[in-house]
Parts: sequence; structure tokens; C-alpha cells
Amino acid sequence: MSTTDPQRDDANRVRIFDTTLRDGEQSPGISLNKQEKLEIAHQLARLGVDIIEAGFPITSPGDFESVQAISREVEGPVICGLARTSKQDIEAAWNAVRDSERPRIHTFIATSDIHIERKLQTTREDVKGQVRAAVAQAREYTDDVEFSPEDGSRSDLEYMAEVIQIALDEGASTINVPDTVGYTMPDEYRRMFEELFRLVPDLRAATVSVHCHDDLGMAVANSLAGVQGGCRQVECAVNGIGERAGNASLEEIVMLLHTREPTMGLWTGIDTTEIARTSRLVSRLTGYPVQPNKAIVGRNAFAHEAGIHQDGVLKERATYEIMDATTVGLRSNAIVLGKHSGRHALSKALQEMGFELDGQALNTAFKRFKELADRKKNVTAMDLEALVTDELREDVPGYSLEWFEVDASSLRPPHARVSVTLPDGTSATGSFTGDGPIDATFQAINAATGTAPALSEFTIGAVTEGQDALGEVSVVVELDGVTGAGQGVSTDIIDAAARAYVRALSVALARSQASDAVGLPEPTA
Ligand code: KIV
Ligand code: ZN
Repeated sequence: MSTTDPQRDDANRVRIFDTTLRDGEQSPGISLNKQEKLEIAHQLARLGVDIIEAGFPITSPGDFESVQAISREVEGPVICGLARTSKQDIEAAWNAVRDSERPRIHTFIATSDIHIERKLQTTREDVKGQVRAAVAQAREYTDDVEFSPEDGSRSDLEYMAEVIQIALDEGASTINVPDTVGYTMPDEYRRMFEELFRLVPDLRAATVSVHCHDDLGMAVANSLAGVQGGCRQVECAVNGIGERAGNASLEEIVMLLHTREPTMGLWTGIDTTEIARTSRLVSRLTGYPVQPNKAIVGRNAFAHEAGIHQDGVLKERATYEIMDATTVGLRSNAIVLGKHSGRHALSKALQEMGFELDGQALNTAFKRFKELADRKKNVTAMDLEALVTDELREDVPGYSLEWFEVDASSLRPPHARVSVTLPDGTSATGSFTGDGPIDATFQAINAATGTAPALSEFTIGAVTEGQDALGEVSVVVELDGVTGAGQGVSTDIIDAAARAYVRALSVALARSQASDAVGLPEPTA
């Protein structure tokens, strides 16, 4: 059935509210710049999400500018900015989203006693007053206002119902009740919504939303339970990234609703064939690899190992597959270009894939394509996607790799020399004799940059199949208590690793500078 199928009842449409760029970006080690956030937002629009929560504008000038740029450029979804209940927060959120065709302000305050007493150090009455003022202020700017009672699943239900009634009276049109700490269970969460609908009959005229964290691995199950309890908006993030154990994973909840639509009758407006590409983009730009056995988008999600399974699938795919890989955009790896393809062919192929490159960006992409085509017989859409995304990361301010050389031999320990551009624009070289070629390269980068980070994660993979495939490396480092994640792509695995490492270092540096420079101002409303 298509999204416009007359048999589909709008009352059963579940809105997808994507928070990859806000809650997702709160994952340790992730720091996306404006260009990267824009790239993700454009892809989310292609995916067909209903709402993009583009950021938390008061938190930093960078966040404000990114939300503003997304509001100005990205068409289709509602663009939402997060705000606490303070006047400055709501004003900042509005100024950041006001240029969108469809702006939304999302304001929140905690309603659980532990948060009210310990974190906010205030009273239930004061919280009610803050909600009244915040929603009223947001409504002066826009009709589309969402309110969330933070830590809703651990709040006193009667009290939370009173707060929600206030938000509705002041004109909020979406009420999102989060399981902020990932503590609830499906039955409990569902019953909470059923009870809220009973206590606050006005909720029936609003959009009611779920927002679940994965601390106990229940985020998607809890989100589904909320939907079965009457909610029609799901807040989620691509690859399930987010605070601590992350948010409900967008691809899992969407494919759950899609696959079980015949049973549940619930549907979304998502173009599922864009799921795999969105997942790869988010993974590359955040530097967070996707675990191989991750549902829907993991490398093994559609792989069959046991002989009995392989035999079954060859005879009839449905014996062991509940979804077709092409439905989520996997295995659509058509060859697009060859060794003799020119600049025009590259530009056309990229355009068809949704990348608008010109000038210097196109020149760089062409140079990297030619390097790849010299080594690899057939350049596929996935190769091009990896190269172009990799180039985007060149904009990360901080360190950048100029060149490296490694003497590797089975007779003596490998020796690496590198040259790196430092944040002040000067070049520095470093050398090291290490345990292996990658270790030697990382240590040489440490010597050049004068840093000594701990390597917390290192993963290596291939973009496509075959011996000539592009290699892809993800690295997470910890520098002075701050984490940074980076990813690199190249036909040479040491080059990919070195690129990933300097990016992770740059991200850690940027994050530690940002946390020194801006703390969240205390709410005053
Ligand atoms: O988890 C949470 O409670 C949140 C709110 C801001 C919605 O992210
Ligand atoms: Zn959250």
C-alpha cells in the first residue's frame, strides 16, 4: 500500500519525530558541525520523517546556527527547536526555527518529584507556573507547540495530568510523555497513556507522543506499547543514538509498524527504501559504527549463516526472512561509473543520488573518484556515497592529515611518519616505531599533535564486498576526559585509519573547548 492509499485511515498514521540531531547528538563523542547537520537533515527529509528536532538552540551559537540553517534550507518536515521553560530558551528556539515553512517549539520541564526537588530544587506549584508561562509564550510565536513533562514515566500521574491540562489550556498541540531514564516496561507505559487519556479528555484532540530511552533495551517495545495505548507520534533517532544507551531506533520502530501493518493497521509516511542510506550517513558523520547484528541496518541483518537457513531462503525467501532487504534500501548497489567516466558523469550520478556538488567540492570528489577508479574496477553508488560523505568531514575544524608514510615489514617493527595541520594552521610532523602499522601511525599523529589520547574503540570494515572494496574505519578517542568519534574511508586502510583518528581528535578538542566556553544558562522563567 502507498502512503496515499485510501484504505489507510489517517487516525492510524503514526508521525515520525526524528531527534537524531538533538537527543542523538547528545551521545558521548558526537559533535556534528553545521554542514554535517544540514546533510543529515536533507536526508531525513528524503526519508520522509514528519518532524526534525534540529537542535537545542540556546545551548551554543553553533547549535542555534545549525537549527536556523536547517529551518531555512530543508523543505518538507516540520522543523523543531528544543527549549526549557525559560523566556530566553523559548525566544532562542523561536528565532532559530522561525524561517522554516513549518516551525515548531518544543518546551519541556521535569514533573517527577525527584527531578523537581533535587534537580530543579523547586516545587510542583512552581513547575505548573513555568509550564503555563512557557507554553503561552511559545504560542505567541507559533501555533505548533509541543510540551514534554520530562521524566514523565516516573511522575505522579495525577500531578502530571494537571500539568498536561495546563499545557493544553495554553495551546500546546502535541504532548510528549518521555521515559527519560529508560525505566518503564511496555504494559506500564501503555497503561500510563490510557490513564492519561481518561484523566485529561482534552488529550484526544491533541497529538500524543512517546519518547523512549534504551537503558533496559526496551525503547522500541515501549514506544510500540505507547502507540497501542493511543499515541500517534514516536520520537526516535537513526541507529538508536542518543543519551546513554540511546533513543528508540527509528529504523526499528518504522519497520516494525511497516512489517506488522496487516496486523496492527498502523502506518507511517516513511520511504523505507531510504533507511539504509540514512543509517550509513548518520554512522559516517557521527563516527558511530553500526553493530553487525543490529536489527534492520546491521551488516548481518539479512545474512544467513546456517546451511539449513541458506537452503531455505534459496528455495523460498520467506522461510527465514520477514522483510525484503530491498524494502529498507539494502542491496541497491548498482554499478554507476567505471574507470573512464568523466566529471560530467560523476556530477550526474551524484545528483541522482541527491548530492548537489559544484566548484571545489566537485573537483575534490572527482579527484577521489579517479583515485578509486584506478584501483577498483567498478565504482558503485555506495562507494560514491562513502567518498562524498568522507569529504564532508574535511570541514571539521581542528587537525587535518596532510600525508603519512609507513615502513611495514615482517622483519622489524613498523615505523610511521606523518604530517598534520594543527588548529592554528601550521604543520607539524611526528614519527613513531610501533607494534603494528596502524599503532605506529596513531602514535606518530600523537607526536605531531602533542596529544596523548586513549583509544577507546577501533573498528574496521568494508563499504562493499570484494577484495578491492573501500575500507572504512571508525575510531573513538578519549582526550582529557572528553570523547571524540571519527570515521575515515579510503582504499588504503592505514589512510582510512589515520583520517578517522585525526577527526576523532578534532572532535574531542572541539567538544572540550565547547564545554569550557558554554554551560547551559540556568532557566529563569
Ligand atoms: O528524554 C527526555 O526526557 C527528553 C526530553 C527533552 C523530551 O529528551
Ligand atoms: Zn530524551
